[in-house]
Amino acid sequence: MKKTPDTLRSARWFAPDDLRSSGHRSRTMQMGYAPEEWSGKPVIAILNTWSDANPCHAHFKHRVEDVKRGVFQAGGFPLELPALSLSESYVKPTTMLYRNMLAMEVEELLRSHPVDGAVLMGGCDKTTPGLVMGAVSAGLPMIYLPAGPMLRGNYRGKALGSGSDAWKFWDERRAGNLSTDEWVEVEAGIARSYGHCMTMGTASTMTAIAEALGLTLPGASSIPAADSNHIRMSSAVGRRIIDMVWEDLIPSKILTDAAVGNAVAVAMATGCSTNAIVHLVAMARRAGVDLTMDDLDRAGRTTPVLANIRPTGDTYLMEDFYYAGGLRALMAKLSSRLDLSVLTVSGQTLGETLEGAKCFNDDVIRSLDNPVFQEGSLAVVKGNLAPTGAVIKPAACDPRLHQHQGPALVFDSYPEMKAAIDDENLDVTPDHVLVLRGAGPQGGPGMPEWGMLPMPKVLLKKGYRDMLRLSDARMSGTSYGACVLHVSPESHVGGPLALVKTGDIVRLDLKARRIDMLVDDSEIERRRSEWRKPADKAGRGYGWMFAKHVGQADTGADFDFLETRFGPSAPEPDI
Ligand code: FES
Ligand code: MG
Repeated sequence: MKKTPDTLRSARWFAPDDLRSSGHRSRTMQMGYAPEEWSGKPVIAILNTWSDANPCHAHFKHRVEDVKRGVFQAGGFPLELPALSLSESYVKPTTMLYRNMLAMEVEELLRSHPVDGAVLMGGCDKTTPGLVMGAVSAGLPMIYLPAGPMLRGNYRGKALGSGSDAWKFWDERRAGNLSTDEWVEVEAGIARSYGHCMTMGTASTMTAIAEALGLTLPGASSIPAADSNHIRMSSAVGRRIIDMVWEDLIPSKILTDAAVGNAVAVAMATGCSTNAIVHLVAMARRAGVDLTMDDLDRAGRTTPVLANIRPTGDTYLMEDFYYAGGLRALMAKLSSRLDLSVLTVSGQTLGETLEGAKCFNDDVIRSLDNPVFQEGSLAVVKGNLAPTGAVIKPAACDPRLHQHQGPALVFDSYPEMKAAIDDENLDVTPDHVLVLRGAGPQGGPGMPEWGMLPMPKVLLKKGYRDMLRLSDARMSGTSYGACVLHVSPESHVGGPLALVKTGDIVRLDLKARRIDMLVDDSEIERRRSEWRKPADKAGRGYGWMFAKHVGQADTGADFDFLETRFGPSAPEPDI
């Protein structure tokens, strides 16, 4: 049903000739707006995750004015509503602790305000899933405006990539190959414009996923934040949301099984961050699509990596990806694996939005017959250590570790691991398997990015750069190494990771997709009967609520009471 001025949701607040509505009108006039500026027009919530603490979104302070310009031009009325900023750079212990808080805030902001549609402004890692999850549950027409990647870094003429190059150059400094002055140059050159990380880390992966789901205007996720095309795209988003409101183009018409399938394929073809797994599952489940770890493993096995972007690729960054044609060019090359009939926020099918998409550099965006990797970069393993699954990035680890067994060296906490890892007398060999537990959704809490456990100093000195590592934590999208992550169920709730002991033999068989401890079932049962659940870390407040209600990684780590299947949403508010 198309909307008319009378059937707009906001009309319930503004139209009636009663005292309460009179108050809403009077208070809008208090802001200097005349009734003809909003009356009978779509009211658009612009959910802006700008803050002084989020360098990736620094431009949103001004960019929101371009969105408003578009809204006004198309005959709408914008209301900017600030939402939790979730700066990956500063928020500790991890922004993942607050992704669900943003999702809840978004849902309630939209439910409680007199708005007909929403523009979601995000980009830094968790903002994309947080905004999308909340807006899907709210159910109003919505469109995603990605922050865009920052410009590529520069150090003495060499391109620097967010995250990956910071670690690389830091190791050079530890090795005495880089002076303090040179290091300061790296610091000043690696993040030289606003915008999100410009490697194919979590931010670039998640905005690509948003576009592949059909939630952005065509090509929007690839435009660098500092490019004037980003400004023009922002006003186009403001114009488009008005049509979406009149068309009643709600998220459930876009976020179908097929759209989720497209997003999974695109994620794999970008060589996505391991974090994409947990967010994809959470977003899909909000839309009522039951995406499983097995679905993701199947996609990983069958989708070649086409984006030659660091860290999975070896040379290029997001700015190069944009100049090469961006995500539209990638999706055009992947089109035989996509369902092109799905509807997007543009009002066109995905196939229509890809018409005329061209690739201008076949080394940056590879074709299906010349991929960066033949198999997708992610694999899901299961076994007696991870009954409901764990995630690994085979392309990012030393191939000798794909089939490996060795004795476990177990740490119960991050501080314990940190204190031991530089110990010159640590009893560890390259065949050992480092295990960190207590770092999952409830135990972390919030699954901090501790999963790329540092290499022990004694092994580094002997020239080793990789070993098998196992945890219920996540790792940064720009990390690398033989890290088995997101082990589910986590140790804090009694998952078998809680029962492994130092010296037990752990075996990874990537070909068979298995991760096991070679310990007798009877011994495992004996240890289980002795196991006691550790206390939650927070005794009150949000952290307390988080630990009580967060789900496991394989189901997206959403709050149980926010999941769509939990129960019907609150009805429209009484006014
Ligand atoms: Fe914001 Fe990396 S710090 S995207
Ligand atoms: Mg990150």
